[in-house]
Amino acid sequence: MKDITVSVSKTYQVKIGSGLLRSLGAEVTSLCKASTAAIISDSNVWPLYGKAAEESLTSAGLKVISYVFPAGEDSKNGRVYLEILNFLAQNKLTRSDCIVALGGGVVGDMTGFVAATYLRGIAYIQVPTTLLAAVDSSVGGKTAIDLDAGKNLAGAFYQPSLVLCDLDTLSTLPEDIFRDGCAEVIKYGILYDKELFALLAKDGLNFPREAVISRCVELKRDVVTDDEFDTGARMRLNLGHTVGHGVEAGSHYTVSHGKAVAIGTAIVTRAAEKYGICDRKTKEQILAILALFGLPTATALTADQLYLSALSDKKRSSGSVNLIIPETIGCCRIAPTPTHDVKSFIQAGL
Ligand code: NAD
Ligand code: GLY
Repeated sequence: MKDITVSVSKTYQVKIGSGLLRSLGAEVTSLCKASTAAIISDSNVWPLYGKAAEESLTSAGLKVISYVFPAGEDSKNGRVYLEILNFLAQNKLTRSDCIVALGGGVVGDMTGFVAATYLRGIAYIQVPTTLLAAVDSSVGGKTAIDLDAGKNLAGAFYQPSLVLCDLDTLSTLPEDIFRDGCAEVIKYGILYDKELFALLAKDGLNFPREAVISRCVELKRDVVTDDEFDTGARMRLNLGHTVGHGVEAGSHYTVSHGKAVAIGTAIVTRAAEKYGICDRKTKEQILAILALFGLPTATALTADQLYLSALSDKKRSSGSVNLIIPETIGCCRIAPTPTHDVKSFIQAGL
């Protein structure tokens, strides 16, 4: 088991290992004085792991209530958010109780935002069950729901009290969803760690789960410690995302987040080589690792379509978009790019 401390506006542990769901109840009682735990989950995860979570909590003496919403990004909206708040209020959950997010990034983002706002803030625990949630969304306190105008447009920075990552839950992930998470794992290698990149390039999908997930969490911990509120260095985590969001939106969300990030990463990498920011070897290494993990590197969408979406990206500031561009493996630059230059940069990478 790996135990990583995150010390930001709140200090908490990220525990990563097999069988950790069994200790959920004991973890909650050691963290807070809750008498009730509210589990929020989705319709795929709850049948697989709801009972184990519930049993662990009740055997630690807690009353358990649960709210399960239909799986998928379509549920990450204001209607479901309000339904959950009303459910908690009707069940008289108090500030000393706690909430458990049992699921992937959708459950984690939604539950985190519920926890940030219910009674002006209540403790919550992330129990990530996808690779993406384990290495990225469960750590760092970004919580959100989607609005009609775009993804993650309403939310809060609100850190969890604990992240409990039971590696056994990853065994039921459909391979395609596992690959989506791999795009984020590869992202950490490109951004910060050439040894991690080399390990992934050697092992492919068979990479050692605990070691690699722990390394990604350590890297995310370091970034979030440096820039909790996303005003500087944390923006690098957006590698592949600005163009990737355009791919997601342009495909009407038929291309998943992870695959869109892979395509976005490939586009900025090809453009980076053409602009002389990275060399050909770096470009080939990045395209090869994406292919090794079965991730796509191209889109039929045009630069015009991708550019329009980039303009609505949250990382935009007045008159420019902060593009994250690879220089070498393990090093990427934040490049504030005038909006009128973004389209030609994307065009160069298609
Ligand atoms: P997800 O939560 O929708 O999970 C993907 C699918 O896998 C769902 O159908 C889910 O029900 C199913 N699933 C989850 N765990 C399972 C398991 N163990 N076995 C079988 N099926 C399982 O999607 P995701 O990829 O985990 O997360 C994507 C979301 O995360 C997006 O909304 C994105 O915006 C958000 N995100 C947030 C951050 C952040 O920092 N907060 C970072 C990256 C992504
Ligand atoms: N996943 C992006 C971030 O946490 O900043």
